[in-house]
Amino acid sequence: MRLAWLIFVRGGVTDTREQSVWPHVCSVVVAVAIVAGLLLAPRPTAQAPDPSDLAEGLRLYQQKGNCQACHGWSGDGHKADNQMPDGANLRETKLNRAALVMTIKCGRLNSQMPAFDKFAYSDGRCYGKTEADLKAYATRMPDPPSTLQAREIDLIADFMMAKIVGKGPMDHTKCVEFWGSDVEACRDVPK
Ligand code: HEC
Repeated sequence: MRLAWLIFVRGGVTDTREQSVWPHVCSVVVAVAIVAGLLLAPRPTAQAPDPSDLAEGLRLYQQKGNCQACHGWSGDGHKADNQMPDGANLRETKLNRAALVMTIKCGRLNSQMPAFDKFAYSDGRCYGKTEADLKAYATRMPDPPSTLQAREIDLIADFMMAKIVGKGPMDHTKCVEFWGSDVEACRDVPK
């Protein structure tokens, strides 16, 4: 419909003998209106995360970040590795996305939740503390399995908000949705 208008106005330029600038001005105005219309067209406000970003978040959670070692693969606190400290139940956490990001970057002082930002305690960016201040705490944060870049932490946080936080106990249907297929881990999950 808008395109038809543009063609109509442009057509006017070739049809008229007189060299008026108005048809040109009109077509520019119409073109600007079309672009503005496209840019301002309403979009869904809560942007659904991209499926490939969610898959990357899942991978980072399970593998590079090894969050599952302490928090369990589903985040319910049933840890995968018995040698590891007991992690919190992330399915029931009250933290919002921003607080998740901060906790992953900075860890939790006086606990076994590691800091995944490489520079967490080098320049005061985390709770205003440096490496030297950490000695004051009875429980020292362990080193992270691997440090993570800001982008990777964002991907993990998006994945957690979509698949873990507030999602209730894992069941078979959620498990298949979580992994994207009926993987081995889902066999032990109640229907
Ligand atoms: C070495 C074990 C360990 C690893 C690895 C680990 N965590 Fe934790 N995490 C903990 C422990 C222990 C706590 C509870 C800290 C406390 O006492 O408040 C915790 C707490 C948290 C919390 C705060 C929950 C709340 O409601 O307060 C979040 C969020 C969290 N972890 C996310 C992650 C993510 C994401 C990863 C992977 C990138 C990860 N953790 C890796 C041990 C771990």
